[in-house]
Amino acid sequence: MAELELIGLSKRYGKKVWGARDINLKVNDKEFIVFLGPSGCGKTTTLRMIAGLEEVTEGKVLLDGKDITYLPPRFRDVSMVFQSYAVWPHMTVYDNIAFPLRMKKIPKDEIDKIVREVTKLVNIHEYIERYPRQLSGGQRQRVALARAIAVKPKIFLMDEPLSNLDAKLRVRMRTELKAIHHKTEATTIFVTHDQSEAMSMADRIVVMRAGRIEQIGTPDEVYHNSANVFVAGFIGTPPTNFLTVELKREKGKLLLVHPHFKIELSNELALPLNGYNKDKLILGVRPENMKIVKKDDATLSEEVLVVEPQGSHQIIAIEIEGKIIKIVAPSFPRYSSGETIHISFDLKRLMLFDIETEKRLNPFKDLGLDSEDFKKQE
Ligand SMILES: Nc1ncnc2c1ncn2[C@@H]1O[C@H](COP(=O)(O)OP(=O)(O)O)[C@@H](O)[C@H]1O
Ligand SMILES: [Mg+2]
Repeated sequence: MAELELIGLSKRYGKKVWGARDINLKVNDKEFIVFLGPSGCGKTTTLRMIAGLEEVTEGKVLLDGKDITYLPPRFRDVSMVFQSYAVWPHMTVYDNIAFPLRMKKIPKDEIDKIVREVTKLVNIHEYIERYPRQLSGGQRQRVALARAIAVKPKIFLMDEPLSNLDAKLRVRMRTELKAIHHKTEATTIFVTHDQSEAMSMADRIVVMRAGRIEQIGTPDEVYHNSANVFVAGFIGTPPTNFLTVELKREKGKLLLVHPHFKIELSNELALPLNGYNKDKLILGVRPENMKIVKKDDATLSEEVLVVEPQGSHQIIAIEIEGKIIKIVAPSFPRYSSGETIHISFDLKRLMLFDIETEKRLNPFKDLGLDSEDFKKQE
């Protein structure tokens, strides 16, 4: 069992800078949690407070209900893997992994068994006699991983462990790490600034900005049900398109009015705006929720600025009032710059945000994933 709870956890550097502020999170046993956010948002600070490497300014860390806020790191039963795979250069792979176990006075044959087990798990069992300089970056990072796994910690902390690897290897290691997690079932907190890494690995994502948590949710939740403009803009590539629109009433109907288009809101979309009394809001549309259609079915018509072919699809950029808007479309037909296209929005997927607080006004009641469209074919 390994359940971690952070209560009002905060870290202030000096007098003014809050590295992390009022972090509240419950990590379940066996869960794979990802801290996601731009550089400087407090991911490392929070992780280091959990590991005991950073003094806590306010709040508590509980492990299986026990307060460990002021417990020295070596008594915490957590293991951390860093971005710069800190393996000891003068030791073989075998000794790198065995060393922490020897420090724990584990019997020699037991150590031998563990080293063989974990090196097999991360696929470096053929290199156990080698020194780190005889290994590639990816292999060295596996040694660091194996060493962290070998001590069988209650909680596994990883701070951007893949960011020093080249792009292709990084994507492969994602899959491998996830598979390793399925086997070890170790409660894990993984830190990254890469939203696609977070989406592909996490049970739940904790989206952070400026020291605070913006949203906690499954990858589907943070993507489809983004809590605010920041989350909707940070998650997804290309990112969500945002447009400021005016809210108008006409013959009992609610309209979103933009200089280039007008959208009449269905009752379902109008309902969450009951009680919203500002005359503007921010409309968010994901690039895949805009569709190129026949002129008669279009909400707006625009000239294509550029087309980015991606093989499996194409990304079409248009410019509306100086703002670049991106649309994801099937690869064919191929469009070209200067051509006029007609566009409609998937009205069920429109995101509406408060013009001032930037908070979501219309959280989807459910993600719609139970509907017929998403059923598996037998
Ligand atoms: N040792 C430190 N002294 C002063 N400020 C720090 C220190 N470490 C981090 N910070 C500040 O705290 C904030 C969060 O940093 P960090 O946790 O490293 O972010 P992340 O890991 O998300 O990039 C940043 O504004 C950073 O400048
Ligand atoms: Mg960091």
